[in-house]
Amino acid sequence: MAKLIDGKKIAAEVRADIARRGAEFARETGVVPGLAVVIVGENPASQVYVRNKRIACEKAGFYSIVVEMPESSSEEELLGKLEELKNDERIHGILVQLPLPKHINESSVLAAIPPEKDVDAFHVVNTGRIMLGDYSFLPCTPAGVMKALEYENIDVSGKECVVVGRSNIVGKPMAMLLLHANGTVTVCHSRTANLAEVTRRADILVVAIGKADFITGDMVKEGAVVIDVGMNRRDDGKLTGDVDFASVEPKASAITPVPGGVGPMTITTLLENTLTAAKEAVKAKKQ
Ligand code: GUN
Repeated sequence: MAKLIDGKKIAAEVRADIARRGAEFARETGVVPGLAVVIVGENPASQVYVRNKRIACEKAGFYSIVVEMPESSSEEELLGKLEELKNDERIHGILVQLPLPKHINESSVLAAIPPEKDVDAFHVVNTGRIMLGDYSFLPCTPAGVMKALEYENIDVSGKECVVVGRSNIVGKPMAMLLLHANGTVTVCHSRTANLAEVTRRADILVVAIGKADFITGDMVKEGAVVIDVGMNRRDDGKLTGDVDFASVEPKASAITPVPGGVGPMTITTLLENTLTAAKEAVKAKKQ
């Protein structure tokens, strides 16, 4: 039987520590860390994510605003809002929830968030810094995965790490963080030949491909650590990951559930990044 990696429990502990450090920082400097989340349109999944981010901020004692813009908003209107937030001293972190409506250019919007307020670490400057291993903002989901591994005392160094999925948000930065932790990293994707052969090599398998129950027991090595980043809704309305839990769990040594695995860890990184951004802003002002 695999050990269940309880993201909810780990996140609760880490967030309590962030709240404590945030309060200490506020006492010392008079500055409360602040996050602005911008959502354009009414994507139901995005609305849930944004709500969870706001609640997490409030629980951590951070200042938090949610800017809701209609689906019909123009790119100029969104850029104008970002300009306002950029100049707002109460706001240290700005996050634009993705996906954006099709008529808005995602790259232009992400480029308009100043790198020092880019708590998602999606700006090209921050993406580049992640590649170099010299960064203040961690990419939220991959860093959440690393935190969970660390909490469970799972050492990455020298291990065969296989990442399934090559998105800019998860797969690519995940590979970088595993590499920085001295893992031997392979990235697989939809065109990978003999995928199961590659995934069976993994000591640590991270799956972020966006296909429900895609990884089955026959694709996993006995004793592997399996991290499921997927979040898919089945026809019956139930949430499920990218890993077929029923067939994979008996082979794994440790596995994350969905929900309650990686999800809570992602928002935890966002809080950590918001605190970092606030600290950096205070430091920059002193200089
Ligand atoms: N949409 C799905 N995941 C994310 C995320 O990590 N950040 C943002 N901004 N949008 C998302």
